[in-house]
Amino acid sequence: MAKPLGVGLLGLEGMTRDELLELLQSADAFVGDDGHLQTPGALRGALDGVDVALLFWEPSTRTRASFELAVHRLGGYPLALDMGASSVVKGETELDTCANLAAMGVRGFVIRHSERGTPRRIYEHLGLPVLNAGDGTGEHPTQALLDVFTLRRALGRVDLEGVRVAIVGDIVHSRVARSDVYALRALGASVVLAGPRQLLPARQGWDAEFAESRAGALDGADAVIVLRVQQERMHRAALSTEEYVRDWGLDDAAAEAELRAGAYVMHPGPVVRGYELSSDVADGARSLILQQAKFGVAVRQAALMRAFAPGQ
Ligand code: CP
Repeated sequence: MAKPLGVGLLGLEGMTRDELLELLQSADAFVGDDGHLQTPGALRGALDGVDVALLFWEPSTRTRASFELAVHRLGGYPLALDMGASSVVKGETELDTCANLAAMGVRGFVIRHSERGTPRRIYEHLGLPVLNAGDGTGEHPTQALLDVFTLRRALGRVDLEGVRVAIVGDIVHSRVARSDVYALRALGASVVLAGPRQLLPARQGWDAEFAESRAGALDGADAVIVLRVQQERMHRAALSTEEYVRDWGLDDAAAEAELRAGAYVMHPGPVVRGYELSSDVADGARSLILQQAKFGVAVRQAALMRAFAPGQ
């Protein structure tokens, strides 16, 4: 009898170092010795006959495209619905949408939604694997996986023991920051969070240090993950653009003054150039941004294998 499929990937909270390393090591198979993406012949049909529904209730470029490519390259069928042109706009609930797709034989879901907990609700309703592609201010587990995957490769490390990572920007609205902290801490890195007072969460519950300034956060960091200000989750502007760019934006001058030589700059995307990051930094020698986008396909292939073809 086929092994029952699991929950999918709802979040990284509680994931152990060994579980993370196992996922990251399986993602290594999808990157060749030349650093380019590859799908080994033995894995090209791993999802043969598996239809996976990609339902994005919020906009996405990287996550949606890379999940779609990942399912396709494993031989599955990515059913990517345009939620703005689906019956959701007529009032259908998320659970009914998913139940109808399950009735058609879809084997699992990749879900992005503005409401925290939606991927879990869908899993609990249908019992099919769900991969969380970002739920409100909850988690974005595959983003954190690709972040640590990229950083391990850049630093030539297996784990991140002794590595220091700063996360700067809009922390309070960030599902990326939450998942990053879980992944980085599980792999042994120390994490320092910083951003304007209005965009910082209460410290309780965060396994990280907090810094009062950009320079304080960047001091001694091996990498900084710069976050976009999520205007779409704010009821009013937190602070002026000029203040934000001056105090928290990272341009070449700030990077040279505050980051140590060889430290990397990362960003989950989308980058708002000239706001949280200048073009010279986004496109500069320190930047791992396009590496992150590339490796997103590899880690999503690994996450899909774990969900739909365990043991292969
Ligand atoms: N990092 C990220 O989630 O990007 P998208 O919103 O484009 O998927």
